[in-house]
Parts: sequence; structure tokens; C-alpha cells
Amino acid sequence: MSDPTIESLLQENRHFPPPSDFAQQARIASFAQYQELCQEAVTDPEGFWGRLARTELHWFSPWEQVLQWDPPQAKWFVGGKLNLSYNCLDRHLETSCRTKPALIWEGEPGDTRTLTYEELHQRVCQMANALQELGVKKGDRVGIYMPMIPEAVMAMLACARIGAPHTVVFGGFSAEALKDRLNDAGARVVITADGGWRKDAIVPLKSQVDLALQADQVPSVAHVLVVRRTGEAIRMQEERDVWWHEIQQRVSDDCAAEEMDSEDLLFILYTSGTTGKPKGVVHTTAGYNLYTHITTQWIFDLREDDIYWCTADVGWITGHSYLVYGPLSNGATVFMYEGAPRPSAPGCFWDLIEKHKITIFYTAPTAIRAFIKMGDHLPQARDLSSLRLLGTVGEPINPEAWIWYHRVIGGERCPIVDTWWQTETGGIMISALPGAISTKPGSASLPFPGIQADVVDAQGLPVADHQGGYLVVRQPWPGMMRTVYNDPERFRRSYWEHLQTGDGHPLYFAGDGAHRDAEGYFWIMGRVDDVISVAGHRLGTMEIESALVSHPAVAEAAVVGRPDALKGEVIIAYVVLDNQHQPQENLQKELMQHVVQEIGALARPAEIRWTETLPKTRSGKIMRRLLRTLAAGEEIAGDTSTLEDRTVLDRLREGA
Ligand code: WTA
Repeated sequence: MSDPTIESLLQENRHFPPPSDFAQQARIASFAQYQELCQEAVTDPEGFWGRLARTELHWFSPWEQVLQWDPPQAKWFVGGKLNLSYNCLDRHLETSCRTKPALIWEGEPGDTRTLTYEELHQRVCQMANALQELGVKKGDRVGIYMPMIPEAVMAMLACARIGAPHTVVFGGFSAEALKDRLNDAGARVVITADGGWRKDAIVPLKSQVDLALQADQVPSVAHVLVVRRTGEAIRMQEERDVWWHEIQQRVSDDCAAEEMDSEDLLFILYTSGTTGKPKGVVHTTAGYNLYTHITTQWIFDLREDDIYWCTADVGWITGHSYLVYGPLSNGATVFMYEGAPRPSAPGCFWDLIEKHKITIFYTAPTAIRAFIKMGDHLPQARDLSSLRLLGTVGEPINPEAWIWYHRVIGGERCPIVDTWWQTETGGIMISALPGAISTKPGSASLPFPGIQADVVDAQGLPVADHQGGYLVVRQPWPGMMRTVYNDPERFRRSYWEHLQTGDGHPLYFAGDGAHRDAEGYFWIMGRVDDVISVAGHRLGTMEIESALVSHPAVAEAAVVGRPDALKGEVIIAYVVLDNQHQPQENLQKELMQHVVQEIGALARPAEIRWTETLPKTRSGKIMRRLLRTLAAGEEIAGDTSTLEDRTVLDRLREGA
């Protein structure tokens, strides 16, 4: 391992015990208590998860069996009936939560809204009734393409309430990407808004929906429910499009929650993989509800009076699990912000923390690195003393950024939970419990109780301490994905066929590299497959390559990630033009724009490099490893003997 970041991580040995005043009041208050929970979960997993499901959730009727495990197919709480929207709303109306803010929201222009649990419940019931009026029945899929406004949360909860699986598509995805996802899910209704605010500009959402649906490209969609946010002029298509504020006038604010089976489909969320189109990750009701509920409670150490802010967009799994479902299931007060830090108000996040007295703040390393660049004077000019706990997610955090976060934002008093997980895992898998586990900058620390994470070699055998390997999970857990929508075979192939134990048990393959230190702490090293992470957004190289190749000038393309101090990685595309086209600067721009159109601005290549050929193995596979090394400006070491044409490398080097 000669990677400099790995070297520096291996030498990282600072550690930060839980502050004693924090630990004294924490939900999980000592390492011994953490170990006891782990012990309970190992000796009797079904007893452990069953106990939590009984005490933490409301059930219409109990389950008959905690777990049915027929690898890779898991069924949790078999035969039980519950409703996630009921668990997030109705049950809190009988407690002091009723009049407590569920959602405190601020828009980019500075407008604010607060909804108590009672008010949120009414709005969700109204939206559920609106969906039913538009013909949505239990089992029908609903697309959600929304800005970060309270109606996005209402839309998700309304779907869960009537048993209509949602598929939220991040507002930064293009019409083309939206069309593919709506088609794959077979959505019947799309919920959107005229637009939303992001970085001082209006993101036009409804017009993208119009583009996606034009010429009957998504035949399953019968209606579009449109929320007015920006007041921009938009086109409403008669019969198809309905304004939310109009339908809201006539629907009741009471709607019984559907009794859902534990394993009923809750939502589909598309994410990038190694091959082909994004896959629809499927999560079901009970396991997901329990797992996001309990991880939120223990990892964020939720207390009655917390004001909890997770900066993720609802379009990503973090928004699903830790902005909406986990915190609301616990009856927490969630703060939600519409926009992103922007040049005209670089300190706005710190203003928001001061103004709303945020106590828990959960964000991504790429955001932290951007904050560092904007300067310490911004947070230092604000009173951040309300904060008591910080979190990070999405990519490995470099120790320098961790220390800055700890010192400048956390005032050296707030523990930091570095949480490792994935769209597929539903909830956090590896993280410190802040009152119980010491943290080390750059390490996600230890697995959550009940999670059997490990690092193994290509044969599935555990590796020694400090040895790199593949991150795997040995046992099923309630929040795990159940399948790839419409493609169970891909589910098996992508996650369960790479590795198995010596005696033939399949292991869940996360696609990440990792190593463990002598204390069992996990250090995540990033993806081992062709998935890249740009500003914490997960993208498949193949997806971007297909977008490039769909341009008439492009004969072939290979895409790799290049390390970037701010974004983690940026996209470098090697492009072979067909013989009708010449390399030109405006063609570079055109291709970048083409990718934006096909996928969205998040996939725009930072650089397009022309080349006459790509390095391939004799069997024709593109050797992305070599391109990655070249893109990073490093010397090619290691084995290149499988390369079909050795002169390719020299030519690529000259070209660069
Ligand atoms: C990466 C986001 C290091 C990892 C919740 C994983 C991380 C992918 C961490 C999943 C972390 C997430 N440390 N790497 N704390 N958290 N990752 O599906 O590569 O968008 O496989 O889910 O992000 O990305 P996804």
C-alpha cells in the first residue's frame, strides 16, 4: 500500500474519549453498555431485534417470526402489521410531542415555517387524500421530484401512509435521468414544485418534469401534483397537472394509515453501481422503520429538546433515513434548510445554527472542506454553543478536516460521529456511539450493535490488523435492502456473489475497501469498484461513459475519478472521437453539457481528454486503473503485462 492517504491514516493515532458530561447523560453511556448490547445481539439476534421492535415501534398486529433468512433473501418481522407514517406522526399525537415542532424550516430567501407534529399530521393526511383522489392506490408507485421544502417531507410520509412506494429523484438530476427512473419504477403520479431555491438561483423543476413526460415518454404517469414554491410562471397541462394548494382546499385532513405488512415495499431509491443503469434499491416497511429509528436514537443520542439538523437532500438515502424517517419516528424536532452554502452568504450555515439553536449537526466531509476554505472567521463570528454533537457521512473524512470540525465548529466539546453506511444498508452500520466509544479522526470506529462487519481478502478470509481488504457484513440486519427493483438477479450478483466464507455462506459485499486497527476500529478506504464519489454524490463510471457515447461525435469513452482536495474526487473523461470529428475546445464544452443533460450537473466532467485509443486488456476490458493513475498525475507502477498495446500509455502521457 503506497497510497499517501492510506499511509497517513495508518499513522493517525489521536483519539478522543467521550466527554464525561456528555457520557453521563447519553442514551448509551459507557463502552461496557455498548459491549453488552453487542453481546446480546450476537448471542440472540432475534431476541435483540425483537425486543427493540416491540418497545420502539407501534404495531397494528404483532409478527410471527423475527427473521426468515434464505440468503440473500431476508424477511424481518414476518406477518407483522404497521405503518411508518403512523410511527412518525400519529403515535406522537398522544404524547407531549403533539404541540412540539416536528419541522422547523428555512428557505434560502429567509422565509421560515414551523410545523408541530399535529400540523404535520394534518398536512400529510391532506396530501395522502390528494394522492388517493388522483387515483393512487396501495402498491402504486409515486415519483417525488422536489426542492427541500416541507412538502417534500409531507409527500414521502403521505405515500407511506397509503402504502404507495415512493421514489424520490434528487432535484439536481436532469429530465432524462428523471424519465428513466420514473419508467423503471412505473410511477403513476409525480409530485413536484414549480421550482426551488439553491445557491441564489431557482432550480426549475416542473419544466424538467414536463420534458421527462413529453410525448408520452413515461406512459405510466397519469397526474402531476405541483406545489407552488417560487411563483415562477409554469405551464400546467390540463387534466394531467394539479396544483397542491387547490386540491388541498377540498380534501379532508384526516386519513387513516393503511395497515402495511412488515415486508411491503416502502420505497425505491436509485443509486449508481458498477455496471449499467442506476439500480432501484428496494427497502421495505418494518425493518427499515426499526433500523433507522434505533440508529438515529443511539448514534445521535436524541433527547427531548434537541434541534437536529441533517443537511442532506431528501433525494439521497441520508435525507430519507436521517432527515425524515429516523428522527420523526423518534419524535424529534428536525431543522430543514432549502439551499446550500452560497457565495452571497458564505456563513449562512453558522447563522442558522445560532438562530435556530441547533444542537445536532450532521453533514458531509466535502461540505466541511468547503467551510474550511471559506475561513474560520465565519463560524467564529457566530455563537455555536448550542451544538452538542456533530456527524459526518458520505466519504472518508481526512483527519485534518475532522480536527477542524472538532475545534472550530464543535468548540472541542462536541463528539463527532463519522458514520459509514450506504443506500443499500438503509441505515448507519459503523459509527461511534458518542457517549460510549472514543473517536479517532478518520475512522468510522465500531459497528452498531448487531452488525457483524468484517474485512476480508478475495477468498473471504479475515485479514490481519492494518491489512487492507474488502468490507463485508456477515449477518442480515433489519435495514438491509431487499432487492433491486425489477432485477433480483442483479441484487444477487452485485452484493452476494463476490465473496463467501470458507463454508460457503455468502457475505454482503459493500464495494468499499477498509482495514481495521488493533482496537477493531474500521478505517474506510473508499470504493474498490467503478463507482466514484463527487462531492459525496455517488456516480457510476459506466453511467457517465454511456452518456458520453450517446453523443454522435464520440466513439468510445472511459471515465475515472481524480482525487480532489475539495470534492473528494472529480470526473476525468478520456474520449475517443469518431473519424468525422476533430478535437476542439468547443466540442469539449459540448460534451460536458451533454453529460449534464443526460444525467445532471453533478456528473459534469471536470476535464475531457482526447485520446486515439484507450488502454485495454487483451480481452477488451478498459484498464481504468491505469487511467486513474495517469489522471492523478502519478507514475504507472505495477503490472501492465495484460495491456494489449503497450504504446498506448506513452501516447496517453504525451496527450496529457
Ligand atoms: C461512502 C451514503 C467513508 C462509501 C450514506 C459507501 C463513506 C458510499 C462513509 C455509499 C464514511 C459513506 N466513511 N466512506 N463515513 N459514508 N461512504 O449510497 O464508499 O450514497 O459505499 O450512501 O459512500 O454512498 P451512498
